[in-house]
Amino acid sequence: MEKLVVKGPTPLKGEVTISGAKNAAVAILPATLLIDGVCTIENLPNISDIKIYCTILEKLGAKITWNNEHSITIDTSNITTTKAPLDLTSKFRASYYMIGAMLSRKGEIEVGMPGGCKLGARPIDQHIKGFELLGANVTVEKGKIYAKAKKLKGCPIYMDIVSVGATINVMLSAVLAKGTTIIDNAAKEPHIVDVANFLNTMGADIRGAGTDVIKINGVEKLKGNATYSVVPDQIEAGTFMLAAVATRGDLLIKNCITKHLESITAKIIEIGGNVEDNGDSIRVWCTKRPNRATIKTLPYPGFPTDLQPQMGVVLSLANGTSTINESIWDSRFQYTEELNKMGAKITAHGKTAFFEGVKKLYGAPVYSSDLRAGAALVIAGTAAEGETEIYNLEHIDRGYENIEEKFRKIGAKIERVTE
Ligand code: UD1
Repeated sequence: MEKLVVKGPTPLKGEVTISGAKNAAVAILPATLLIDGVCTIENLPNISDIKIYCTILEKLGAKITWNNEHSITIDTSNITTTKAPLDLTSKFRASYYMIGAMLSRKGEIEVGMPGGCKLGARPIDQHIKGFELLGANVTVEKGKIYAKAKKLKGCPIYMDIVSVGATINVMLSAVLAKGTTIIDNAAKEPHIVDVANFLNTMGADIRGAGTDVIKINGVEKLKGNATYSVVPDQIEAGTFMLAAVATRGDLLIKNCITKHLESITAKIIEIGGNVEDNGDSIRVWCTKRPNRATIKTLPYPGFPTDLQPQMGVVLSLANGTSTINESIWDSRFQYTEELNKMGAKITAHGKTAFFEGVKKLYGAPVYSSDLRAGAALVIAGTAAEGETEIYNLEHIDRGYENIEEKFRKIGAKIERVTE
């Protein structure tokens, strides 16, 4: 078993470079299934979700050449099966993007129910509603999803809930459909724009991504033969911004799009931190104990739920009592029990948690319950006095490229140890 051992407290200082966005990359990889040809994808994060996705695509018949650890050339001209390997697809959430992509490309797909972080109920009714409106038959049975369609036909689709996954999935299924699809009440996250940009580069006709109405004019074929670079990871950048504040450090975060970070920047300034926005890099520093705050997580451009646990660490150490209201997921406060083991004073009731700020956290053995909770514990361990052992690293490795190396380069005393 592996664990991370962190010795603190250390103010994180120096420069860190952000990787490509996990949530964009895990949608762009299945989007290659729409191409009857070859394309190259660059700036892929070197994380386990990407490696698993590449294996799944290979099992479907794609040919992948790794150009380096962040770039692949993928040939999807010969897709030989419509059955995705169940053991692999159940390992993470984004395997559901194969439904939209394969319905478009092959008119059929059998895939396991998606896995991913346990954040409470994660229904996919809006995905299924979209596929059915476009003309597919979808059956969910014995842990499998089976979808079939003759020729998908574009139509208006109103999303009852703002959903990142459903917006992308419907976009994937509509790209090669006959006629025009209009997604109303679409999600607006940067990775939705990135997937649309990728598809348009390959020959799709998608307009309005990044607004709440997306119009997709179906095209006959995606031509491929192009290179695309994945957008920088907004959540990884936000994780380091909050790490700078929690440890009272000073970080220059390079290769990010600061426009995507506005909600985090605003909160950091509100609680007394400092931010210098350089467009493609951002400097964050903090010289005093942060002030209390009230946070509500919301779809983009609101404060992202995927930075809620990292913000929770900052507020555990703030002056006064803070409140976080988690409006996206039912069960995203599991990490607060771990922070309480480290001396935090947090009370969580349902979707609201109260953080009575303490002056110090202390090292303890803690368990990561999900991906972002794991990142929060790394920040907490760096800010805390003494030694913190973090277990369940498989969650962190799904979404953060070489987390201990990146933290070590900015001063953290962190080691991965095999027990
Ligand atoms: C994506 C992200 C995840 C992030 C989340 C919200 C990926 C791979 N994962 O997850 O890290 O936390 O966005 O920013 O990109 N819902 C329904 N029915 C549906 C779909 C969603 O009720 O068919 C609900 C969900 O239960 C949740 C809300 O809508 O309450 C938002 O979920 P959604 O945006 O779909 O999240 P994911 O795409 O799963």
